[in-house]
Amino acid sequence: MGHEPRFADPYRAVTPLKAEEPDWHRSYNDPESQLSRRLDVVKRRLDEALGALRMATPRILSLCAGDGRDVIPVLAARPPAEKGLALLVEKDPVLAQRATQEAVAAGLKTIHVRCGDAADPALYRDWLPVNILLLCGIFGNVSEEDITTTISAISALIASEGMVIWTRGRSQPDLRPRIRSWFTAAGLQEVSFDGDPEPFGVGVASVTKPDPATRLLPQRLFTFLD
Ligand SMILES: C[S@@+](CC[C@H](N)C(=O)[O-])C[C@H]1O[C@@H](n2cnc3c(N)ncnc32)[C@H](O)[C@@H]1O
Repeated sequence: MGHEPRFADPYRAVTPLKAEEPDWHRSYNDPESQLSRRLDVVKRRLDEALGALRMATPRILSLCAGDGRDVIPVLAARPPAEKGLALLVEKDPVLAQRATQEAVAAGLKTIHVRCGDAADPALYRDWLPVNILLLCGIFGNVSEEDITTTISAISALIASEGMVIWTRGRSQPDLRPRIRSWFTAAGLQEVSFDGDPEPFGVGVASVTKPDPATRLLPQRLFTFLD
């Protein structure tokens, strides 16, 4: 697959590498890295999801958002009336601060950043339900049980017709097929899945029938494994 970024990426150009930047994050400085290629797919799928929703002010929630380099450039590129409202939740203060700076630099007053524990729904209960939920960079870092817990909670996080964008690498065990089936089992409909030959997976699924019986959120969605 050719590498053709569709969105301006001010992060690569103007944000200096900081000494305190987490190690994993440095892969973003190489536009050909697996992480950068995955980012391009996430941005494309997010832009498509926003287009498909056709809402003036879609509400977006990104859990474990990093520095927001997926949501911020996509919203910045959208027409003024369709930028949407976004909440980014990230526990690393360096990344959360960079997200805030980049949102301000992009002139996006509708992006909010909360530095805290995204596994605790109490931190963003006031923002629910959302039209688009991003779970990017989570499913490769938590247990299978936490993945199923999180997927089961999605219908309590997303409004009817809303969409979730998720990622998971091919890393062994390759859980991508099972995760896709867990989404289906939870009543979501797969919209797209980008996987092989890439070593990552980017899935998009929609909530067609929110289930009021599942509207109770667990106290914790996941815990990152070290
Ligand atoms: C693999 S990175 C993905 C970041 C971003 N979504 C991306 O795709 O670039 C995982 C992120 O989750 C954050 N994180 C880990 N545990 C968290 C938690 N409990 N609450 C919020 N963020 C968390 C890490 O600091 C890191 O930025």
